Amino acid sequence: NQSSGGQPPTGADHFSRSGFIFAAIGSAVGLGNMWKFPYITGKYGGAAFFLLFVIFLVLVGLPVLLAEMTIGRGGRGSAYTSFRNLSKVKVWGTFGFLAILGAFMILSFYGVVAGWTLHYAFLSFTGSLFSSSDYGGTFASFSGSYVPVFWLLVVMVLTGWVVARGISGGIEKFNKILIPALLVILLVLMGRALTLPGAMEGVRFFLKPDFSKLTAESALVALGHAFFSLSLGMGTMLTYGAYVDRRQSLGGAAAAIGLGDLFYALLAGMIIFPTSAAFALKADQGPSLIFVVLPAAFGAMPYGTFFGGLFFVLLAIAALTSAVSLLEVPVIYAMEKWKLARTKAAWGTAALIFLVGIPSALSVGGPLSRFTLGGKTYFDLLDFAASNVLLPVGGLVVTLFTGYAWKKAGEEAGLTGPLYRIWLFVLRYVAPVMILLIFLYSLGLFG
Ligand code: PHE
Repeated sequence: NQSSGGQPPTGADHFSRSGFIFAAIGSAVGLGNMWKFPYITGKYGGAAFFLLFVIFLVLVGLPVLLAEMTIGRGGRGSAYTSFRNLSKVKVWGTFGFLAILGAFMILSFYGVVAGWTLHYAFLSFTGSLFSSSDYGGTFASFSGSYVPVFWLLVVMVLTGWVVARGISGGIEKFNKILIPALLVILLVLMGRALTLPGAMEGVRFFLKPDFSKLTAESALVALGHAFFSLSLGMGTMLTYGAYVDRRQSLGGAAAAIGLGDLFYALLAGMIIFPTSAAFALKADQGPSLIFVVLPAAFGAMPYGTFFGGLFFVLLAIAALTSAVSLLEVPVIYAMEKWKLARTKAAWGTAALIFLVGIPSALSVGGPLSRFTLGGKTYFDLLDFAASNVLLPVGGLVVTLFTGYAWKKAGEEAGLTGPLYRIWLFVLRYVAPVMILLIFLYSLGLFG
């Protein structure tokens, strides 16, 4: 009883039920949760912002997540081929191709930041991170050197290796080990953070909403982050969906993934805000928060070498499981398009992304940071084009395709009755309008 599609693109190699959930949570939980979420929460209103994020995640994020996975399982191919399998209208395939390009671009700078976390884990465990208290200087001299290129290489070798091993023997296995490990590390670090004197003030900041702090801007940032955090609009959830068994409930999976993502974000906040509060560090310092502000806290606490190292290992794991999902998006496309074996496609794509990522690795305070376009470095430009242009466009395409073009979407998603009608309503009216708002906002249209 197959309404559309058929076998996963790689035949017998597909996800088990739990393997899919772990892999999708691994994709969702990443630097977005551990690095970006804390600093934007600090900046845009603390607990009230967190609440908005939860609301958007559930009301808009989950329906779009379900839509993306549904397209993948229905179409059984890459982000390009799945659209082509489900619709005769060619332009959907073109949009799918843009998502593949987006994943490629995101990975080229996401891999750079992932590399920073590996470098910092290394520095923490050897104790050399804490040998001077000038953490700003440490970060500047590191990011200004050529060393980040080496760590980007390490990241691409690791992700290439996992993806080359395939879906069940590579991606699934990797996530099934690392996602539980991530939970253990988070709980250990949370225990440490919450027992620091003065920690409760940080908890209050994170969990006690003050709605007067909210602005229209915080709402748009919360919405954009709900999309980024669920890995939407880049074809990742679509691609993973292509490897899901026909009998698995996608609605149930979407709920589990959303809850998982939220839970890991909550834990990350329960580490970072109490730790910052205990050492009277300000948690709203922007992107440098985890590389500059938090090391100061670890440096000052007992066994800080250990806890600091653990913290950066945590970040590295979170980043790598997301990087793997991003790499699979162009890899499956290369396998289809050029009939390549998985190993060749995986290593080839990883190598290409490494090359494209080198300028990013050198442009955050590094030798290439002088070259800017409209005030943006190469790193910023890629981030901007991918996160603020391709990601919303990808999200929009997913909602319009499932909401209007593909009539059998509800059947493939396994939804009937009122749930189906709510889903369709969100996909047709709510999500597209909201995505357009984020898009216009991120292009600077609201000043
Ligand atoms: N969701 C990931 C994070 O929170 C980032 C990501 C975005 C991964 C898009 C894949 C696709 O870090």
